[in-house]
Amino acid sequence: MNVLDFQKMKDEGRKISMVTCYDYSSARAVAESSIDCILVGDSVAMTMHGFSNTLSATTSMMALHTAAVARGAPSKFIVADLPFLSYRKGLKEAMDSVHDLMSAGAHAVKLEGVHGHAEIVRHIVDSGVPVMGHLGLTPQSVHALGGMKVQARTNAAVKILASEARELERAGCFALVLECVPAEAAKQVTKLLKIPTIGIGAGPGVSGQVLVYQDLIGFNPGFKPKFLRVYANAFEIIQTALNDYNNDVKAGLFPSESESYYESRSVERSVEKESSSGGNAPVAESSRVSRVTVASEMNQ
Ligand code: KIV
Repeated sequence: MNVLDFQKMKDEGRKISMVTCYDYSSARAVAESSIDCILVGDSVAMTMHGFSNTLSATTSMMALHTAAVARGAPSKFIVADLPFLSYRKGLKEAMDSVHDLMSAGAHAVKLEGVHGHAEIVRHIVDSGVPVMGHLGLTPQSVHALGGMKVQARTNAAVKILASEARELERAGCFALVLECVPAEAAKQVTKLLKIPTIGIGAGPGVSGQVLVYQDLIGFNPGFKPKFLRVYANAFEIIQTALNDYNNDVKAGLFPSESESYYESRSVERSVEKESSSGGNAPVAESSRVSRVTVASEMNQ
């Protein structure tokens, strides 16, 4: 998947699947899946850091998580969110944030809304960085919107949504997230645009779907918006595993004989070999090497 495939998929009527991801081990699971692309969303502030909204995400937080995801899923197309206000303080600040996210391994950036920053979107695109727009419910404006509410519920609001979507397309966005808007409005906007739309709570008439990883694997119990389909029960599976482990430890059932080491000769031999081969290596280096040796022998 590269940036050109988004348009190709819309043109050919093939749906785009996107999932958020914030860390290395989850990225490895996504990497081995057939999901088309990854969003390192600013929802990371909520899912991974426990904040109540996305306003606490910063560029350095986004860059740290983007880099971890890029290491775990090196062959997936990664979009990283520009965080709250990072593109509202002027061009230099916006470009510094873009630079940090792209250097961390993103292939594109996403930003919310268009009023007052269409020029910045244009500049980012002209600088060779693909930009994904985001309209409808824009969580970085949660306080201005009076809460996390479905948007574009009136004809007038749908017209505004459509004209903002056109503006983002004209500014050069390659795709657009539509969050929490009525299905009919999302379908109309999708028809109006050449670029693809990726919906979350926007019904089936869009070009693709995005869900938050934790929500879709059932790792966010209690979060049950109408639009969400939960595909696994990860929270319960992990809880059961943790409780089984705890019970085994308390009952003396873990570790078993087959999970214990009884001979350390091969490890000792490796360490001996190291000290005889030179002997004047710095202590830190030689202990690092012997840890690597032990790690490679951990299965024996
Ligand atoms: O940050 C995020 O997870 C998002 C998605 C909800 C689209 O922007």
